[in-house]
Amino acid sequence: MSVQSVIRRKTAPDILARKGGDPIVMLTSYHAHTASLVDRYCDVILVGDSLGNVMHGFETTVPVTLEMMILQGHAVMRGSQHSLVVVDLPFGSYEASKEQAFHSAARILKETHCGAVKLEGGVRMAETIAFLTARGIPVMGHIGLTPQSINTLGSFRAQGREEGSWGPIEADAKAVADAGAFSVVVEAVAEPLGRKITESIAIPTIGIGASSACDGQVLVLEDMLGLSPRAPKFVKRYGNLGPGIEEAIKSYAEEVRSRAFPGPEHVYGMKAKA
Ligand code: KIV
Repeated sequence: MSVQSVIRRKTAPDILARKGGDPIVMLTSYHAHTASLVDRYCDVILVGDSLGNVMHGFETTVPVTLEMMILQGHAVMRGSQHSLVVVDLPFGSYEASKEQAFHSAARILKETHCGAVKLEGGVRMAETIAFLTARGIPVMGHIGLTPQSINTLGSFRAQGREEGSWGPIEADAKAVADAGAFSVVVEAVAEPLGRKITESIAIPTIGIGASSACDGQVLVLEDMLGLSPRAPKFVKRYGNLGPGIEEAIKSYAEEVRSRAFPGPEHVYGMKAKA
């Protein structure tokens, strides 16, 4: 008889059931090691396509490929046990048709074993969201500022700044919820709109720069740790690890250059001849 210890991961339905309840805690991670730390405190780990900026130094998320997402999604699954892992569908892997979206999302689920995918767009992606969810793929939506559309948006400005421009964003939220998404990321919208959307749809809203009125929050891990050279203005830094890492690298380089670093004697038990 095989002995298995079964650890139950959170699922998309668990997150959906949190609507209006305890706030949903979500952070990004792209590596097994950071995933194991994030896993201790978060409900959801997002393998975001922001890995294009953070890991690869791209200016935008547009160059990110499906293969990159699958590789890092797999690493995050290996490093975590409890959180729901959501992997972003990258630009160009889902917009052409609902069939293309199914093919890409199915690859992500089969090759990483994660529990859900995220895609950007509201009304224009509703048919695709319905197609995926009807075929066993849980979808997290993403509305407001949608960074994959940077080339048509022109800048990463906050959305819905004037009340007169709220209509399309509210319509996006409703379309995503009606299509069967289990939750929706709302990025860079002012508090009154974030609150209005949260009160008007039946799925959890997860804000990023969208206020504590949402049902949860997500941040890019490296931004909140103070490791990103450029982070959005709304990000609160909970750490300042950049300077600490630089200091450690500097000490190491100085010791190696002056041959002052410890040798292996304490491990091998013998000293070099004088
Ligand atoms: O890619 C990402 O990290 C994201 C978050 C900013 C929500 O989509």
